Amino acid sequence: MKDLRNIVVIGGGLMGAGIAQVFASNDYKVKVFEPNQEVRLSLQDRVAENLKLIGSDIAIAELIEVCGDLEEAVASAQYVTEAAPEKLDLKRSIFADLERLAPDDAILASNTSVIPITHITKGLETANRMVGTHWWNPPYLVPLVEVIQGDGTSQDTIDLTMGLLRGVGKEPAHVKKDRPGFVANRLQHALWREAIAMVAEGICDARTLDTCVKNSFGLRLPVLGPLENADLVGLDLTLDIHRTVIPELDRSSGPNPYLEQQIEAGRLGFKTGEGFRSWTETEMSDLRKHLSEYLVNTQKQ
Ligand SMILES: NC(=O)c1ccc[n+]([C@@H]2O[C@H](COP(=O)([O-])OP(=O)(O)OC[C@H]3O[C@@H](n4cnc5c(N)ncnc54)[C@H](O)[C@@H]3O)[C@@H](O)[C@H]2O)c1
Repeated sequence: MKDLRNIVVIGGGLMGAGIAQVFASNDYKVKVFEPNQEVRLSLQDRVAENLKLIGSDIAIAELIEVCGDLEEAVASAQYVTEAAPEKLDLKRSIFADLERLAPDDAILASNTSVIPITHITKGLETANRMVGTHWWNPPYLVPLVEVIQGDGTSQDTIDLTMGLLRGVGKEPAHVKKDRPGFVANRLQHALWREAIAMVAEGICDARTLDTCVKNSFGLRLPVLGPLENADLVGLDLTLDIHRTVIPELDRSSGPNPYLEQQIEAGRLGFKTGEGFRSWTETEMSDLRKHLSEYLVNTQKQ
C-alpha cells in the first residue's frame, strides 16, 4: 500500500488541531493551513494542552507546521483533511482549490459532520480521490472515524484512507452510501429527535430523560451495540416490542417546533446558561471536566 507521510489539515480550529495532533503523534509530517492569524498563533498551545491532558509529550505540538498560504501548504501533500466550517459553499470552494493546487495523486478528505461528500465534490473532475472522513470530538480520544464513500470515490481511496486511519490507532468504519449524517450522527439524532419529542409532550423533563438514558442502555452501549443487543434478547422479542412502540415514536420530518421555540427564546444551552435546563457556571465546567476525564480513562483501559 502507498506510504502516505505528508499530511495537510485545512482549518486549524477545534477539529483541525485535534486531527493534526493525531497524525503528528504518529510521526507523520503535518502542516495545517488556517486563514485566521489568531487561530494560527494559538494552534500549538492548544495541541500542547491536549497532549498534556492525555499524558503525552507536549513537544509533539511543535512538530506541526502552521501555514497561512493554501498553495504553499498543499504543494507536497499526500493526504489532505479539510476541517473548515460546516458550510456547503465554503467546502465546495475549498475542494475546487485543493483539486487545482494539491498534487494530482493526493487524497482529499472532508471532516464534514453531516453533508454528503458527493454534494461537496459535485462538478469536480477528480472526485475519485475525494472521500468523507468524519472524526469525532475530541479526535485524539474518540476512536471512530466514519469513512464515507461518495458516488465518485474510488475503492483505492477508501482502502488507503482506512489503512492510514488504522495506522494512527483509529477505528475507521466504511460507510458505503453517502447519506446526510452517515451512520453515527444519524443514529445519535434519531435518539435526540425522540428525546426532544418526549420532553415537548411532557412525558418527562429533560433531567429525567438524561437520567433514564445514562442509567440504563447508555451504560451498556460501550460493550453492546443496538443490533448486538437485539440478537442478545432475541429478534422475536424485538418484534413484539416494535409492534407496540414503533407506532408511538415521533415521525416528524423536520426539527421539533419545541426546539425552534427554545432558540427563539434565546435558550441555546451552555452558550446562554439555559437550554433544555438551566446551568450554573460550576455545573457547566463540572460536566465538561467529567466528560474529559471519562474519555481519557476509556483510553487507558
Ligand atoms: N466540533 C465538533 O464536535 C465536530 C465533530 C466532528 C466534525 N466536525 C466538523 O469539522 C469541521 C470543523 O469544525 P470545528 O468544530 O473544528 O470548527 P472550528 O470553527 O473550530 O474550526 C474551523 C476553522 O476553519 C477556519 N476556516 C475558515 N474559513 C476557512 C477556509 N476557507 N479554509 C480553511 N480554513 C478555514 C476557521 O478560521 C477555523 O479556525 C466542520 O465541518 C464540523 O462540522 C465538528
